[in-house]
Amino acid sequence: MKKTFEHGQRVLFAVSFILVLLISGCGSGPQNSGEVTSPDGRMFLVFNLKNDSACYAVFRDGNPVINNSQLGISLDEMVDFAGNFTIDGFETSSFSETWEQPWGEKREILNEYNELVVHLSVKESGPEKLDIVFRVFDDGVAFRYVFPEQEGLKEFKIMDELTEFNFTANHDVWWQPAYRPDRYEYLYNKSRLQEVADTMHTPLTIEAGDDLYISVHEAALTDYASMTLFHKGSNKLECDLVPWSDGVKVYAEAPFSTPWRTIQIGETSGDLIESYMILNLNEPNCLEDVSWIKPAKYVGIWWEMHINKSTWGQGPNHGATTANVKKYIDFAAENNFGGVLVEGWNLGWDTDWWNDGNGFNFTTPYPDFDIKEITDYAACRGVELVGHHETGCAVENYEAQMEDAYAFYEKYGVNYIKSGYVNPRGMNSKEWHHSQFGVRHYRKALETAAKHQIMLDVHEPIKATGIRRTYPNMMTREGSRGMEFNAWGPDGGNPPEHETILPFTRLLGGPMDFTPGIFNIALPENPNNQVNTTLAKQLALYVVIYSPLQMAADLPANYEEQPAFQFIRDVPVDWEDTRGLNGEIGEYVTIVRQDRNSEDWFLGSITNEQERSLTVSLDFLDPDTKYKAVTYKDGAEAHYKDNPLDIRIEEKEVAAGMSITLHLAAGGGQAVHFSKLK
Ligand code: NOJ
Ligand code: CA
Repeated sequence: MKKTFEHGQRVLFAVSFILVLLISGCGSGPQNSGEVTSPDGRMFLVFNLKNDSACYAVFRDGNPVINNSQLGISLDEMVDFAGNFTIDGFETSSFSETWEQPWGEKREILNEYNELVVHLSVKESGPEKLDIVFRVFDDGVAFRYVFPEQEGLKEFKIMDELTEFNFTANHDVWWQPAYRPDRYEYLYNKSRLQEVADTMHTPLTIEAGDDLYISVHEAALTDYASMTLFHKGSNKLECDLVPWSDGVKVYAEAPFSTPWRTIQIGETSGDLIESYMILNLNEPNCLEDVSWIKPAKYVGIWWEMHINKSTWGQGPNHGATTANVKKYIDFAAENNFGGVLVEGWNLGWDTDWWNDGNGFNFTTPYPDFDIKEITDYAACRGVELVGHHETGCAVENYEAQMEDAYAFYEKYGVNYIKSGYVNPRGMNSKEWHHSQFGVRHYRKALETAAKHQIMLDVHEPIKATGIRRTYPNMMTREGSRGMEFNAWGPDGGNPPEHETILPFTRLLGGPMDFTPGIFNIALPENPNNQVNTTLAKQLALYVVIYSPLQMAADLPANYEEQPAFQFIRDVPVDWEDTRGLNGEIGEYVTIVRQDRNSEDWFLGSITNEQERSLTVSLDFLDPDTKYKAVTYKDGAEAHYKDNPLDIRIEEKEVAAGMSITLHLAAGGGQAVHFSKLK
């Protein structure tokens, strides 16, 4: 049961905090600070000037979550916005609305917050105005810098952002390294804050005790550099903006707003999963017609290349042949899948493309890929081709062809495109994927796609920051280690704990195209690798890892005569509601979701390499009916290493008010489909 932090306590608390500021010489009076609380009164944020620097602190139920932390931005001009501030005034307001996601993990989203705008001036001549906008929600706090229109500040360069996150103790932090050739495709590390000697990507998640989970990220990254974080001594993290190759962090023009810096705060790890603060901080949908935007399950000519059965380039084993694509189309049609992805269909794959993508041509299919015949055949069978643009990060080459490339697919009725940006040296072999250069490119592709009524699934993407609210054709993206690492990862693939970390880290940004569903787990084609899960866990991933485009990644032949495949046929990709039932980061997690197009519920539960039993209450079910539960669970002898295929499928009657115990094998999982009994 959540406690409400009473107004009286809050005021008392605010007064004592301001007193502390006065005694410590941090401010010169109450006019130097402003406060704002969450709608439920539990979350509390104080803005204050400390030695003329802008600072903020965050509390929950009166306890500090973030100690006083500096804010500010340095420009290359004579005057910057790093200190020397005076407060010109405060404005406060409240907002509450419920909006509907066209697709998503939950249909109706409550967006409710209190806002504090701080108008600041720098005590020097020249450009001087800066606003900081704070929003305090029940599930966290966010703030952004706004440069108002003003004399002397037109085009400007941001050289540094001084935003700090000053934690209250040496907490455990789950993080991924930034500035690496493989972008976000690294395993997560768990360390103590003070041990981190690296720059880290966000979402970065902090376990601050049994009842305090914090995730630091950003929302609405639209024309700015990504925020990465580094340890700045004590328990402090500071923002490090990813630079352009010339060293500038951000090119801007006033009026200008930065992305939101977000701190999601939960009492349980499941609270983080059920937080929609990142989406709420993005602009509403800007597309008038969204009738063409549809979540879907897909199969594709993909895994066969990753396990070396066929090739992207031409030759005797070329994967993307008309005949092969038709086989996948038949399989998709027979099993009610919406799409067939085809990679390796166009000119450019016979080069050293991952180092130089300039050979890619996006309107010239290989001779054995007849796009007209394929798309006609697919249309007859009620299936769509999922197009593919691997750019090899030759952004200049891609942008020069972008308009034609999207128009080409549109002409053939293709309205899903998976794109890719492989190149260890970055965009145009010199810019970071996560720089403002990269952010601008991904946005351009998204806008062009929308113009041609095309939905995107971006691999090697910019991180997800909720842009899908504004552009609902931004369906899903990779941006972490997906299934492909199990096929060829030199380290043996993703360890069993990997997928138990993702829901509390990467997935807090947004959907991921992880591509689950490998049934031939031993990978006979690649003797040094295997998928490090049981078969039941592969099924559970369809619920645990949210994506509106969800692949059944294995070869169609591997699904033949597999009763477990029924779960993949049944599982939806669009949800009415989502709940995080339990979870310990890196250990286990159980998520339930209700289908948006029926009253069915689906449960996914997964564990790391530890075998365990979890008891969950079925109180999420409608109390007025009984349900049939079809359970796909690890068999008694199942183990991810040497007995991954041991699976039991059982049917039983259940109802709200009951609890069920989930037995998960080492590296295992369980998937359950609940449907109402008439
Ligand atoms: C990396 C992507 O993650 C993968 O899905 C794709 O098959 C290859 N690049 C080739 O584009
Ligand atoms: Ca990848």
